Amino acid sequence: MEIIIFNSAEEVFEEAASRVVRLIKKKKNAVLGLATGRTMEGVYRHLIKAYQAGEVDFSSVTTFNLDEYLGLQPDDPRCFRAYMERNFFSKVNLDPSRTFIPNSLPQDIDEEGQRYEALIKKKGGIDLQLLGLGRDGHIGFNEPSSSLAARTRVKTLTDETLLDNFGSLKGPRFALTMGIGTIMEAREIILLALGEKKARAVAQMVEGPITASCPASVLQLHPVVRIIIDQPAASLLQQKSYYLWVWRHKQEVEKLSWPRKERVKKE
Ligand code: GLP
Repeated sequence: MEIIIFNSAEEVFEEAASRVVRLIKKKKNAVLGLATGRTMEGVYRHLIKAYQAGEVDFSSVTTFNLDEYLGLQPDDPRCFRAYMERNFFSKVNLDPSRTFIPNSLPQDIDEEGQRYEALIKKKGGIDLQLLGLGRDGHIGFNEPSSSLAARTRVKTLTDETLLDNFGSLKGPRFALTMGIGTIMEAREIILLALGEKKARAVAQMVEGPITASCPASVLQLHPVVRIIIDQPAASLLQQKSYYLWVWRHKQEVEKLSWPRKERVKKE
């Protein structure tokens, strides 16, 4: 895991957005896994800015959102489809036929999960998955006790998640979410978390045991994960100064590997 700690939220957004832009420059038909939530709004803002500045072209990109509430009409502003239109899709040149989100009103919930899984496979799998973090350690809507091997299926939201997302317990209780097994198949993962409210979940995810009680802790098993957070979210990390040191000296490592690679090539 690479733990990247910034002083401001803007730097967190900037770092995540620039990694997405770099990927699309390298692979113009990249498949992105997208997330929702307040944290992600800043990333989308930076991606829109990059698009407007002509730095990135989304026309061949495919996107898969992590999750969607069940039982909402498609025009309900609480739907993640509506969130994505508002915050991102309507402002860049993504092809609408290549933006996928689980259906909020499927005829058959199990089949919808299987259809979504098959679609991800058909499009070649997810190159880069963006994740937020729930206060209870959830990723997507995989709440504590979720199977660490699960695929896209229905989950029941906790009171804490409803309160965080709607400010009351009256929001939709059920959601379709990519499973942790699905998320772990992404080739690269970037998780963002901001603020003191997330500090406990961040510490459990990075430094705690791998456990379904903190679903995000499974990311310790993924080979290419970047955890990009601000100082308050990092405040309970025991090895914080080590992570900061590693990040500040990253370029030194890159310099070290350069002559060795050259030598190997010549031999
Ligand atoms: C929702 C989403 C999660 C996201 C979380 C964080 O619960 N389903 O994928 O990680 O929100 O949201 P925020 O950034 O608003 O704290």
